[in-house]
Amino acid sequence: MNNKILCVGFCTIDVINYVNEEKLEDCKIDIIDERKCIGGNATNTANVLKQLGVDVDLCAVLANNDPEIEELLAGIKLKTDTCFYRHGTFPFSTIVVNEANGTRTIFHHSRNLPEIQAKDFETKFAETLGNYSWVHLEGRNYKNVEKIIKFIDNFKKANNRGDITVSIQFEFTPTTPCSEDLFKLANILFISKEFVIAKGWETAIEALNEMKERFEGLKNTTIICAWGKEGAYGIEPNSKKIEWTIGSPVKAVDTLGAGDCFIAGIIWAMNQKLNLLKCLQIGVFVESGKCEQIGVSNLN
Ligand code: FRU
Repeated sequence: MNNKILCVGFCTIDVINYVNEEKLEDCKIDIIDERKCIGGNATNTANVLKQLGVDVDLCAVLANNDPEIEELLAGIKLKTDTCFYRHGTFPFSTIVVNEANGTRTIFHHSRNLPEIQAKDFETKFAETLGNYSWVHLEGRNYKNVEKIIKFIDNFKKANNRGDITVSIQFEFTPTTPCSEDLFKLANILFISKEFVIAKGWETAIEALNEMKERFEGLKNTTIICAWGKEGAYGIEPNSKKIEWTIGSPVKAVDTLGAGDCFIAGIIWAMNQKLNLLKCLQIGVFVESGKCEQIGVSNLN
């Protein structure tokens, strides 16, 4: 069976400033170190999946004539033939990682590069979608992502390919409305702690229960939620809840991209058909390894 994965979403340049400070506002701070690398949720997840030995493709919008991006992507061994080249300035995040407590603060500017268009996706993957066993989408650009997910669903039905797994990552609460179709056409939903808190839920378990109860269409969906230092929680289609809590908390020095790494671990494990508890353990293991180190390299 083909185990190839497609990650669809955002690619950006991250300029990361490392500091070690108690107080960050309204003062002058010396940076310990500075690094420029490629980022974006889907790109980080693809990067880690590659490190875990997965055959993975990235579908993101890249800027025409930007050799720096090509170099950075080549550095993490991601090819660009499944990406779209468009005219515009490449998105950019200035990030402060505070090694004193592992927090990351992201100042993001999408600039003027267009987002992925559903019709372009349909054209590009019309012949090749069947090569993938899993399509993972970043929850953003909802109008297009909704069309893309419907296109994948139609493809699955027309080609008897119910085995293609579709997942979506919701990192922050959508600022633009998104329909329930987005939820219900996915097999796996990843929701972050930020998403849960923004929705007014206090615990991951409360969020998982509420999502299952509120959205009729989520009957067949597995929902997974990473809960920072504590561990991770999941709810299966049969509503059975699974949790994995961490015995000894990690010493976090850099949490930038931790959620994206967690998702990579889970996708890797689920693509091997491991049970949900094992998948949560592997997701948390990859995420913890990332938090204890600077950057998202060498996570294999
Ligand atoms: C981390 C990250 C960064 C990027 C930002 C974009 O999860 O993907 O790499 O700058 O979020 O939202």
